[in-house]
Amino acid sequence: MSKPGMVMVGPLMPRVMEGLAPLFEVHKLWEAADQDALLAKVAPAVRAIATDGTRGAGADLMRKLPKLEIVGCQGVGVDAIDLGYTRTHNVIVTNTPDVLNDDVADTAMALLLAAIRRIPQGDRYVRDGKWLKGHMALTDTLRNRTLGMVGFGRIGKTIAKRAAAFDLKIVYHTRTQQTGQTFLHYPRLIEMARDVDIMVVIVPGGAATRHLINAHVLEALGPSGYLINVARGSVVDEAALIKALQEGKIAGAGLDVFENEPAVPEALIGMDNVVLAPHVGSATHHTRNAMAQLVVDNLKAWCEGRPVLTPVK
Ligand code: NAP
Ligand code: 8YV
Repeated sequence: MSKPGMVMVGPLMPRVMEGLAPLFEVHKLWEAADQDALLAKVAPAVRAIATDGTRGAGADLMRKLPKLEIVGCQGVGVDAIDLGYTRTHNVIVTNTPDVLNDDVADTAMALLLAAIRRIPQGDRYVRDGKWLKGHMALTDTLRNRTLGMVGFGRIGKTIAKRAAAFDLKIVYHTRTQQTGQTFLHYPRLIEMARDVDIMVVIVPGGAATRHLINAHVLEALGPSGYLINVARGSVVDEAALIKALQEGKIAGAGLDVFENEPAVPEALIGMDNVVLAPHVGSATHHTRNAMAQLVVDNLKAWCEGRPVLTPVK
């Protein structure tokens, strides 16, 4: 029997490529000189898409694949996949939850420590020979500080576990209070922002969370407050963040994600109180291979008529 067709939107981990080759006739969209011509040619046999959290799958693409049945995403965040389309067309979507919790949480803590203790600035201080002329200025501290988690799901809880080991007091904001949770829940984000010293953002992207962190929330966080964003760039109003940093309305930020990545505003690049990372939350060999394996395992299950392992509900 011939293999079902698959459109791969962009290059994925070698483990995905190797795992899917025996199962699907894989068409590499990014390599096609004329993508529309390729899609028109292969559409009658294409039943699957493989993509990642950044490239996703828009309705424009999926509409060109009328036999589409499943989208496998390398990434837990599915905000770049048009879920309205997949729902109305009964297309299964799978993602890669849990396997990346630890590395993303490590990244959040690394940004938090780097921003507050000015680790990259210290590195530059040594390299620039400034230490020879005198000590670097003292920094802020984690002592007696409260951390407000914006989002308290799989990754949020993993970050909190690490933050607790640093003796940070932890509180959280989500739409729904979680049962059996000892941490204080804030139903209103603005009230939590007023009460905390550091906010870590780890909610899904998309319309529902667009610019959740706006000028009012940043003002409430206050001049000694730090913002860490490892969620999606869309969750933070970047223009408002830049203004708040420029005007000293918050003390600093640690950012792994940006509104228009990989383009990062010059204003942020020029700021000394901001630590920047190129969306590397899950970017370790260990975790990316685990994510890749889960993409393959989901698509293999579908091929064999079994339930997929991690469907997006
Ligand atoms: P999750 O387990 O689904 O948790 C999401 C949390 O966000 C829940 O606590 C949820 O609680 C809360 N939430 C959702 N919508 C909200 C809203 N409008 N206002 C306030 N809270 C809201 O997701 P996860 O696995 O932890 O992943 C979270 C996100 O992290 C992903 O979707 C992805 O965008 C991002 N991420 C980034 C990286 C990176 O490399 N930087 C890597 C992995 C994931 P309620 O539903 O009760 O509100
Ligand atoms: C990936 C992510 O880097 O899982 C997510 O939601 O943001 C990251 O793990 C992203 O999906 C690109 O592959």
